[in-house]
Amino acid sequence: MDIPAEKLTRDVIFRIAAKGDAPALAAAYLENREYLAPWEPRRPENFFTVAGQQTVLDDRLRQCAEKRTVPWVLESADGRIVGTTTLSGIVLGPFRSACLGYWIAAGHQGRGLATAAVEAVCRVARETVGLHRIEASTVLDNAGSQRVLAKCGFEHIGTAPRYLAINGTWRDHRLFQRILHDDAPTP
Ligand SMILES: CC(C)(COP(=O)(O)OP(=O)(O)OC[C@H]1O[C@@H](n2cnc3c(N)ncnc32)[C@H](O)[C@@H]1OP(=O)(O)O)[C@@H](O)C(=O)NCCC(=O)NCCS
Repeated sequence: MDIPAEKLTRDVIFRIAAKGDAPALAAAYLENREYLAPWEPRRPENFFTVAGQQTVLDDRLRQCAEKRTVPWVLESADGRIVGTTTLSGIVLGPFRSACLGYWIAAGHQGRGLATAAVEAVCRVARETVGLHRIEASTVLDNAGSQRVLAKCGFEHIGTAPRYLAINGTWRDHRLFQRILHDDAPTP
């Protein structure tokens, strides 16, 4: 998939993850470990190492080549990774849907980065990936993430009990979707 990099702000670039990003990703996850813990699956220790991130990244890039996942990073001018956004579980055919995930580093919140990144993902999902729908989910009390989704045109479609293991517990989630267009389905 040919997905060009774009500027989200004056000093943050939004681009597809590259094979060489593992050291910057490991540094970012280590730095944001405690801050992200309440909102993410529990991670094994090696997730916070360069080798562990290389394994995750290689898997995502392989899935990207197969058009099953699109992994983006938000990179600041000093080369640090300050967030990621991922479209995963891409299904084409009559469904044309995928799941959206994202996080923004602790020191970079509240600048509109998540909103800008999710808007960019929706555009690429429609124009380049050929999707009709994106789904996202948040734990019930993630007000920040729910606000990002609302700002980006996602609608609340229900609550799924014990939907996903977050920080070691099966947590109820609010489910959201955005329908990207109403064009006639293509075969
Ligand atoms: C949730 C998160 C992605 C928001 O990122 P961000 O870049 O700060 O979001 P934005 O700057 O685009 O803000 C979008 C809106 O959300 C609001 N918002 C952000 N965090 C908020 C919070 N904790 N509580 C209430 N509103 C919040 C902002 O005020 C803004 O609304 P406004 O324009 O009406 O003022 C970020 O805080 C984060 O990564 N959190 C930890 C991981 C996480 O929750 N990931 C998502 C899992 S579903």
